[in-house]
Amino acid sequence: MSTLTTGDLSDVLRNRRSLRVFDPAHDLDDADLARLFRAAQWAPSAGNSQPWSFLVGRRGDQTHGRFVAHLSAGNRSWVPTASAVLVTAHQVASGPEEDAPAYSDYAMYDLGQAVAMLTVEAGLLGLTAHQFAGFDHDAVALEFGFPAHWRVTTAVAIGAYGDPATADPSLAERDQRPRLRKPLSEFVFAGTWGAAAGL
Ligand SMILES: Cc1cc2nc3c(=O)[nH]c(=O)nc-3n(C[C@H](O)[C@H](O)[C@H](O)COP(=O)(O)O)c2cc1C
Repeated sequence: MSTLTTGDLSDVLRNRRSLRVFDPAHDLDDADLARLFRAAQWAPSAGNSQPWSFLVGRRGDQTHGRFVAHLSAGNRSWVPTASAVLVTAHQVASGPEEDAPAYSDYAMYDLGQAVAMLTVEAGLLGLTAHQFAGFDHDAVALEFGFPAHWRVTTAVAIGAYGDPATADPSLAERDQRPRLRKPLSEFVFAGTWGAAAGL
């Protein structure tokens, strides 16, 4: 992997990165939060199954407090300072109701797309979104009563970028590290799988 340029990407994609310094005084209002979830709502999904759900906690509320207790050690230092945390889940089986929608083999894929759209919309709102999986999924599922046919998948910390000068120096340093990517030749093929398309 190497430090490639982001080239001609649009600003919102070029500027996106998973940052750890959040402004601990910033609050996310209902309008912005609803807009983020509308971005997820309008994502494509297999058969329009929309097999995603979210649990939202805002810094200082009860949901947030109960969620952050289940963070991994590595994420405990930065997630709680974000304005909000969204737990994501995808449907893994039909529910018990008679008219339960069929679950889709593509549910995790669809959830990923919905979260990607939410992440881009966050960038357009001037917010930063950092997706993460480092928390106790089973404990969170139990704590918040996720039904057995929904799997807790990831979470997203969202807020305004903070001031690196007053932040924990180790977090500020991580936000400055060069970003590494595989070149297109390693994952875009033509003719035969593995043969670089030459883009
Ligand atoms: C499914 C998933 C799980 C992740 N888990 C964590 C995590 O637990 N802690 C963390 O700091 N970042 C986590 N990340 C962020 C990735 O480390 C980050 O996206 C990757 O290093 C690329 O960096 P970038 O998003 O800044 O381009 C996760 C991202 C995804 C999509």
